[in-house]
Amino acid sequence: MKGIRIVSTGKALPKRIVSNDDLKEIIDTSDEWITTRTGIKTRRYCKEETNTSLAIEAATKAIEKGNIDMNQIGAILVATTTADLAFPTTACRVQKALGMDEEVMSFDLNAGCTGFLLGLNVARGLLQTQRKKYVLLIGSEQLSRIVNFEDRGTCILFGDGAGAAILEASDGAYFQRSWTRGNEDVLSCPGIGNGINKLQMKGSEVFKFAVTVLEQSLRTVMEDAGVTIDDVDYVLCHQANARIIGHVQKKFKGYEDKFMMNIQKYGNTSAASIPILMDEMRDEGKLQPGSKVLLAGFGAGLSWSSAYIEI
Ligand code: ACO
Repeated sequence: MKGIRIVSTGKALPKRIVSNDDLKEIIDTSDEWITTRTGIKTRRYCKEETNTSLAIEAATKAIEKGNIDMNQIGAILVATTTADLAFPTTACRVQKALGMDEEVMSFDLNAGCTGFLLGLNVARGLLQTQRKKYVLLIGSEQLSRIVNFEDRGTCILFGDGAGAAILEASDGAYFQRSWTRGNEDVLSCPGIGNGINKLQMKGSEVFKFAVTVLEQSLRTVMEDAGVTIDDVDYVLCHQANARIIGHVQKKFKGYEDKFMMNIQKYGNTSAASIPILMDEMRDEGKLQPGSKVLLAGFGAGLSWSSAYIEI
């Protein structure tokens, strides 16, 4: 089975920047507490933007940057936990906004913060069978809409944003593993019409879960791929919390610099965090064709997934 090449990427972030000091106007907190516990300095909150408008903007940029023929996009997948509508899907709205051909499969995919990783795996399957050349995979979130500002330990973490990637089949290596541990206790949000739609999180339990599965799953896919951390150019983990990534970095002593981080600017943007990071890295010339990357997503489900990809 073929691997995946990331042909192009794009991102969209709301204009409104919310600093830790800005949060002091809503909750009892401090820049020092948030920075030490999470590494976050600012995040973005939608004002005029919506989840859908961010998804459309990120997709448009990816298409423009890659000079992509839209008629060659066979599927639009939007990984999101905060869609504007339960249905029709965000992906359908992206198809319309971009004026795309009707012959395109489009659907949303909800796997919490693991959504982008699972979207990649689904995209890989579609690329083997569809008639067209590309899949458009977007991670888009408007988490500011579902955070509970009465829970100061949780609301400080999250932000809004979207990232998009145009994918095509390639001969590069691709190894991925995914796991699910049915658990509604530590991370959840009620569905539409089922109580108040606010995110609930037991922070310290998420922390313990995340640091354990991150290290294990990264090691597992490297073993599957027959590579070591020495062979890897970059490690892109879901940007949940700088302390979580820092904890895992320490387990790969001497290779700390391979772990990429931008959470200080955007907070935790759930399914959008990895494609936003990818786009920044590409803009900086860091992700080149042939780059060997480890990707890791983890979150509600509890679910987690890691991949080793030559992009
Ligand atoms: N400002 C100031 N003080 C605060 C704040 C705040 N925003 N929030 C909590 N506190 C206080 C608490 O009241 C408590 O005070 P007390 O000791 O007097 O009772 C103290 O700080 C410690 O509170 P804890 O909740 O124990 O804080 P902890 O050190 O566990 O840090 C945090 C909380 C940052 C959420 C941590 O548990 C964590 O990093 N968890 C991981 C969660 C995560 O990253 N989730 C990502 C989302 S899910 C995902 O993406 C997979």
